[in-house]
Amino acid sequence: MRNMNFKEMFSARTEEVGIVVESYLPSVEGYQSTVLAAMDYSVRAGGKRLRPMLMEETYRLFGGRGKEIQPFMAAIEMIHTSSLIHDDLPCMDNDTLRRGLPTAWVKFGYDMAVLAGDGLLIYSMETAAKALSMTDRPDLVARCMGILAQKTGIFGMIGGQTVDVELAGKPIPKEKLDFIYRLKTGALLEASMMIGAILGGGDETQLKLVEKMASCLGKAFQIQDDILDLTSSEEVLGKSVLSDEKNHKTTYVTLEGMKKAKQDVEIMSEEAISCLHELPGKNEFLEALIRMLVNREK
Ligand code: IPE
Ligand code: IPE
Ligand code: MG
Ligand code: MG
Ligand code: MG
Repeated sequence: MRNMNFKEMFSARTEEVGIVVESYLPSVEGYQSTVLAAMDYSVRAGGKRLRPMLMEETYRLFGGRGKEIQPFMAAIEMIHTSSLIHDDLPCMDNDTLRRGLPTAWVKFGYDMAVLAGDGLLIYSMETAAKALSMTDRPDLVARCMGILAQKTGIFGMIGGQTVDVELAGKPIPKEKLDFIYRLKTGALLEASMMIGAILGGGDETQLKLVEKMASCLGKAFQIQDDILDLTSSEEVLGKSVLSDEKNHKTTYVTLEGMKKAKQDVEIMSEEAISCLHELPGKNEFLEALIRMLVNREK
């Protein structure tokens, strides 16, 4: 690893984490193989694998060394992928390119894409439950399953997507936009890092700090996503661009302007880093990862 720059280390981690995630996918067989194929296609299409990566790095920060983190790494990526499949549907953002490939609904049809999103969402819980037999602390695993469900559901990602979709084409006041970002994007990052902290042995005070760190990171991450939707290309991002404009979305950029959006990305990421510094332990890769995420090009 010594001669690798950060970009190379990040790609290597994306690959390693991807192998763990993919090892938990169900095999594509049986009468229901169409939906299994759509689930498999969407997860294997790739992506940065950020959520499981952040989970494992937080676990390591707290000294975690076991294998019980792995079912949760797979589970969070399944949930995230299900959110992307549904987010791209014609009734939502109506996009045709994701992770460099046609979106699930384009490839498998609207009906199968809905079922593949549902399938991945609930298979994530079946997957996370596998950690129960891999640990000597089933109480902590059970708590993590609760957090995973809560941060995914109506008080997390799905709640945020609800308000986001409902308000497309309408003006959104700043507090409501903050609510949307905290839930639609922040919540899954919070779940990722909190699960890493709990299974790694963090205490309640540290857990609160981890939740705040992930929330700041989530906000910065979503603002940067809005910026890239306007400034990047399909070749670089691997997903449809100008999607927000097409759907007449109020975003951080339309509300605050590009200059302030960029400044706030920096501010929120520095806030995340300062939470990290308040925590015990040291993980230089995690710090570099947080900085990179907000300055990312894809
Ligand atoms: C895209 O997430 C959706 C948002 C929450 C902004 P990512 O940018 O992490 O997408 P992948 O996993 O790399 O494809
Ligand atoms: C979606 O935000 C966040 C999710 C919960 C999927 P966007 O709609 O901006 O995500 P992209 O740009 O399509 O990846
Ligand atoms: Mg969307
Ligand atoms: Mg979208
Ligand atoms: Mg976007």
